[in-house]
Amino acid sequence: MEVRNKNAVRDDFEVSTSRKDLEAKASRIVPCRGTADSEAYHLSELRIASSENDPRRILPLVPPGCERILDVGCGAGQTLIASKLPSSHFLCGIDIDRAALQLGHRIAPSIHFVLARGESIPFRANFFDMVICRVALPYLRIDTALDEFYRVLNPAGVLWLALHSFAHTVAEIRKSLRVGNLKDVVFRFYVLANGLSLYATNRQFRFPFGQRRLESCQTTRGIRKSLHSHGFRQINVSRSRHFVVTATKGP
Ligand SMILES: C[S@@+](CC[C@H](N)C(=O)[O-])C[C@H]1O[C@@H](n2cnc3c(N)ncnc32)[C@H](O)[C@@H]1O
Repeated sequence: MEVRNKNAVRDDFEVSTSRKDLEAKASRIVPCRGTADSEAYHLSELRIASSENDPRRILPLVPPGCERILDVGCGAGQTLIASKLPSSHFLCGIDIDRAALQLGHRIAPSIHFVLARGESIPFRANFFDMVICRVALPYLRIDTALDEFYRVLNPAGVLWLALHSFAHTVAEIRKSLRVGNLKDVVFRFYVLANGLSLYATNRQFRFPFGQRRLESCQTTRGIRKSLHSHGFRQINVSRSRHFVVTATKGP
């Protein structure tokens, strides 16, 4: 394995919080916004991913032969952990949230957690059999990230994405309106506008107030177009309960 990023965090994590504290935090679940309470958020997502009857649960179907798997924007690795893959597999999660990676390392030390951006993946080309990205692509520079996903996948590799739709963002706006959170309403309108911009011009822009946040929502047509233009084939979009897209690198 070749690691390009010298700053990559591998196995030197230290977690100060006890499991009891984490469980207590998890019971006051907050939605994923920034990294303010990332441990609680990722623990709650791990619970969802591990509960077979939870309608919010969505896990990738890992095809036979996919043994090197990368989860981009993995958080604490909840998707990989809940997928219960054989221990012989090489499982790796990357994220920009150090606290989440530390938590993941503590829960599942066999997974390789690396501090890295989805737009600059510190692995050599053709290394992975599968790249998964569960509701993290909406926070990434999509053009650059798709280039990277394509690069690190081997020629027979498979991509699996779970995305945020326009309908999801509209529902978030309604929720924020109901509780009178006008700041979030403004932000969600930005997410909608960014989604439209991606769809129409393939361009994304940062939230104008503060410039640090980046988020978009996706359309079926937009993501198909982007994946195709990055070389992906056999693009399959499912819009039943979740917005899930699969694609292959090869023909
Ligand atoms: C909504 S959470 C999803 C976490 C996990 N995949 C799941 O399904 O529960 C989005 C994650 O993307 C991560 N993220 C945001 N921007 C990123 C980037 N540029 N590169 C890698 N990860 C990023 C966040 O830190 C966060 O952990």
